[in-house]
Amino acid sequence: MSVKAAKRKMSTKNYMAVLSMFYILSVTLHATKTTAFHVESSQEASSAEQLRLGVYYETLCPDSRSFMRNSLYDGMILNEWLKYTELELIPYGKVTSWTDPDTNITTLFCQHGRTECELNALHACIVEHHDVRDQLKLISCLLSGHTTTLDECAKDLVLDVSAVKECKAARSIPDILKKYGEKTDALDISFVPSVTFDGKFDRWRQRYFIYNFSVVFCREYKAKFNVTLPQC
Ligand SMILES: *[C@@H]1O[C@H](CO)[C@@H](O)[C@H](O)[C@H]1NC(C)=O
Ligand SMILES: *[C@@H]1O[C@H](CO)[C@@H](O)[C@H](O)[C@H]1NC(C)=O
Ligand SMILES: *[C@@H]1O[C@H](CO)[C@@H](O)[C@H](O)[C@H]1NC(C)=O
Repeated sequence: MSVKAAKRKMSTKNYMAVLSMFYILSVTLHATKTTAFHVESSQEASSAEQLRLGVYYETLCPDSRSFMRNSLYDGMILNEWLKYTELELIPYGKVTSWTDPDTNITTLFCQHGRTECELNALHACIVEHHDVRDQLKLISCLLSGHTTTLDECAKDLVLDVSAVKECKAARSIPDILKKYGEKTDALDISFVPSVTFDGKFDRWRQRYFIYNFSVVFCREYKAKFNVTLPQC
């Protein structure tokens, strides 16, 4: 074997060694990555336990509008607590309903009049046809002004709201709101908005819950899951 040939053989050997080193390294790296990913995802899953939160509101009530647009939106969207929350929106509030015994036709009288019934029904259609994140975004947008339209909000948020429009156009207001009325009547609320944590309704502390929402939400979450949420 000539010196040159030996060198070449050496370098091929080296090359193979380097190559196998790389292979081992990349397998190790890949394994590390996979492990890291699994750890991350299981942490995500365990920390993403959801606290049930029910929000009972009406569309033309100033306290409801302010709560939805500020405390609730800030907590759920800006603080990103939505992933820790099983949020249910119930747009109904203080409504008197009357069913004519002769015709079985139900008429609703909303606290702020007919317009409020129309708007509550529109919100209910949003709740029925969008996921909860989009519900909050659309509803918060709608509540930003008294003349803000669904089309304007849909355009801003780049959402297709045709199912919402179809729902609102095709069905009567009492039919759309029936489910929300039953849920609201079951609580017999005296203050709008009202909230329930983990399905429990505390009639006497609603004002405190609404005006100190973030503090109360953090405390309720911690009480149930023994976890302090980010931003708490
Ligand atoms: C009204 O509804 C009740 C119960 O659903 C039914 O028994 C009754 O026949 C209905 N009356 C009319 C007028 O449709
Ligand atoms: C909100 O919490 C603060 C501090 O605990 C308290 O002083 C205030 O009265 C609460 N607001 C309401 C409306 O209960
Ligand atoms: C709550 O969590 C803390 C820290 O993670 C732990 O030390 C404590 O034992 C937990 N308490 C309960 C009641 O599980």
